[in-house]
Amino acid sequence: MDILLALETNVVSVVMAVLALLLLWKIRGKQSRFDRLPPGPAPNPLLGNLFQFNMKEACKFYLELSKTYGSVVTIWLANTPVVIISGYQALKETMIGLGEEFSGRATYPLMMKSTYGYGVLATSGHRWKEMRKFSLATLKNFGMGRRSIEERVQEEAENLVEMFKKCKGSAFSPADMLFNAVNNVICSIVFGHRFEFEDPQFKSLLRTVNDYFAILSSPLGQIYNIFPRLVSLFPGKHHQLFKDLEEAREYCKREAQVRMNILDLSSPQDFIEAFVLKMKEEKDKPDTEYHLDNLVSVVWNMFSAGTETTSSTIRHALLLMMKHPDVQECVQREIDEVVGQDRWPLVEDRQKLPYTDAVIHEIQRHMDLAPIAVPHKMMCDTEYNGYVIPKGVMVFPLLSSVLIDPKRWKNPNCFDPENFLDADGQFKKNDAFVVFGIGKRACLGEALARIEIFIFFTFLLQQFTFKAIVPPEELDTTPKNSSFGRIPRIYECYAIARK
Ligand code: HEM
Repeated sequence: MDILLALETNVVSVVMAVLALLLLWKIRGKQSRFDRLPPGPAPNPLLGNLFQFNMKEACKFYLELSKTYGSVVTIWLANTPVVIISGYQALKETMIGLGEEFSGRATYPLMMKSTYGYGVLATSGHRWKEMRKFSLATLKNFGMGRRSIEERVQEEAENLVEMFKKCKGSAFSPADMLFNAVNNVICSIVFGHRFEFEDPQFKSLLRTVNDYFAILSSPLGQIYNIFPRLVSLFPGKHHQLFKDLEEAREYCKREAQVRMNILDLSSPQDFIEAFVLKMKEEKDKPDTEYHLDNLVSVVWNMFSAGTETTSSTIRHALLLMMKHPDVQECVQREIDEVVGQDRWPLVEDRQKLPYTDAVIHEIQRHMDLAPIAVPHKMMCDTEYNGYVIPKGVMVFPLLSSVLIDPKRWKNPNCFDPENFLDADGQFKKNDAFVVFGIGKRACLGEALARIEIFIFFTFLLQQFTFKAIVPPEELDTTPKNSSFGRIPRIYECYAIARK
């Protein structure tokens, strides 16, 4: 018996020793893989640097780190290393100079739940390239069909003006109307037509996009992104969202099926039609990326990346106009002189509206909507500045560091349209305007967003003067931080008709 016990004890000891060796070997392997990462604050063995900063103030912490450690810094989120790149020079050298290496996308469980690894925003490599090339070309040709993107945006902006007029000068919150209008522009591009705001299909789509952002920015979303399986076991709002996401995907598939039956698709009238045409062209290619899964996810990417971003920017624009009535007056004077009151502003007017153009750029710079862009992922082991960033490591391009760099802006922390004006009052470009990101993964909706912001902003200021319900000096223009980005606070305002 004793011999057996001794034997058993020995076997257990040997197994334990082998396991310990294996663990040590794994840790050493892991360490050597990460040996040449850029420097950063010492991590706790279990939690990394997680408890050294407040998640809500993460961006501030990253900016501080870049002052201590330089333009490339490593932090550890629990046992995951993240490399933070800051400053225009380093961002240019990595995101453009080593664009291919830095072009991967880090994904989160909530992103995967809405796209299943298809589409453009949350993919990497061949699929991402194909979907990006197609989406960019299609949005560019929109011009596509009979109506240009500008016409679609104008239609929605006119509708928005009517909605604001209905408030008859009394206090209201413009947030939902702006969100609906921007959403409808995407509907017009994707489905070929806008919806009435009361349409049940539109309402369900709106609710899905809205809830997606609400959950993405909430503690629930953050916990889900760390422990998706566990959180799925508990009741909560996320279950309704997942159901709604499936319904939105089904609706999109039905729209595609309708277009599959159109025999002559040679002149597609909307984004889905253009995609279905490509599906038909490539139907005999076994490895084609043109199938329903990618179509549905690209469409979702456009809704998720193109609505909260643009509508928040316009909301911030109106807030800043109320805070700075002198700037609002100058914009209105310029619009009156160049466009007048008898026609709507056109995108081609922009060149003749340098002050307005400068104000719009400054609104976006000041807002700093996406301080860390959307996290990237390394496509292969890459040497930069003497460090080695291994394949798969997450990278945060710290756009904020460029947008508030005192070497590149006169008054980086204030709202000052002079940042974009030369001595003659003409619009002055600045390469450090990186709100749409930089390099191969920069925003693919930039052209659309610029049209939307310009048209909505000029239509509204041509027709209304915006006034706050509190004195301007009491208005809080600092955005609310969320895990998604810096979003302006909800406010009420007066829209006073100018004629
Ligand atoms: C004010 C408006 C907008 C801002 C500030 C903005 C900003 C950004 C930023 C910072 C990124 C990430 C860049 C990176 O990963 O390095 C991005 C990506 C993206 N944006 Fe926008 N965006 C805006 C509007 C739009 C619109 C209207 C669309 C609609 C089509 C859109 C679609 C996308 C997509 C699909 C991506 C992912 C691109 C990729 O992964 O290759 N965005 N955007």
